[in-house]
Amino acid sequence: MSRIPIAAGNWKMNKTVEEASEFAEALLDLSPNTSDIEVILCPPFVTLYPLSQKLAQKGIKLAAQNCYWEAKGAFTGEVSIPMLLAAHCQYVICGHSERRHIFGETSEDVGKKVTAAIHFGLKPILCVGETIEEREAGRTETIVFDHLSKGITNLSKEEALSLVVAYEPVWAIGTGKAATPQDAHQVISYIRQQLVKKFGDNTAKQIRILYGGSVTPDNVFDFMKDPDIDGSLVGGASLDPTKFYKIILESL
Ligand code: G3P
Repeated sequence: MSRIPIAAGNWKMNKTVEEASEFAEALLDLSPNTSDIEVILCPPFVTLYPLSQKLAQKGIKLAAQNCYWEAKGAFTGEVSIPMLLAAHCQYVICGHSERRHIFGETSEDVGKKVTAAIHFGLKPILCVGETIEEREAGRTETIVFDHLSKGITNLSKEEALSLVVAYEPVWAIGTGKAATPQDAHQVISYIRQQLVKKFGDNTAKQIRILYGGSVTPDNVFDFMKDPDIDGSLVGGASLDPTKFYKIILESL
C-alpha cells in the first residue's frame, strides 16, 4: 500500500514572526512540489497563525510543536487543540524527546495529548526514541514500546488512521550523527509490527512512520529509499529554506 511521504520541519524554539515570514517567502519562491508529498512546517506557537495564509496557498501544512489536552480553562502557559485548529494547524507533534527529557513529559501525558488531538480533529505526530544509554543497554525496543504503546493506548482503528509516528533516536538529534538507514529500518519495522498487533494489518499499513535525527539534504534519500520509511522530521536543516527545499525534492 502506498503512503504519501512527509517532509516535516520542526523549528523548535527558533525564528520570530518576521524571520518566519522571510523563510516562507524564500521557500515559496522555490515552488516546492506539494502534490506528491505532504510538506509540514512546525514553527513556534506565535508564528502559526501569521504563517498560515501564505503557506496554505501553496499547500504547505502547519503543525504545532506541543499542545495541552484540555479544551480551555485555568492552565496558565498552555495552548489547547481548539486554539491550534483556529490558527489553521492540521498536525501537532506529541512527545518530542525535548518535551520528555527537558520538560518531564511522561508517556502517559503524551498519550493524553495524542487522544485529545484526534478527538478534536488534529493529527498527532507521535515521537518515540531511545537515548544512547538505553540503546547501549539493549533497551531500544523496550523504550520505543513504552513511548508507542502509551501514546496510542486509547485509539481505535479508525482514529489510528490520523496518526503519524516519528522514530527519533535521542542520540541522533542535533548531533550531526544520524542513525544508519539500517538502524532506522530495524526500529521502524518494530514499530510497524506493534501497530499491526494493536490495529491489524490493514490499518497499520496506512500509518506513516518518519525518521528524525540529523536529517540533511545529503542523507535524506538514503532513508527515503527504504519502503518502510515514509518521510522525515527535520530539525536544524529545516531552518534554511534552501536546505529544506532540497529535502523535499530528495523525498519525492
Ligand atoms: O524533531 C526534529 C528533531 O528532533 C531532529 O533534529 O536537528 O537533529 O534534525 P535535528
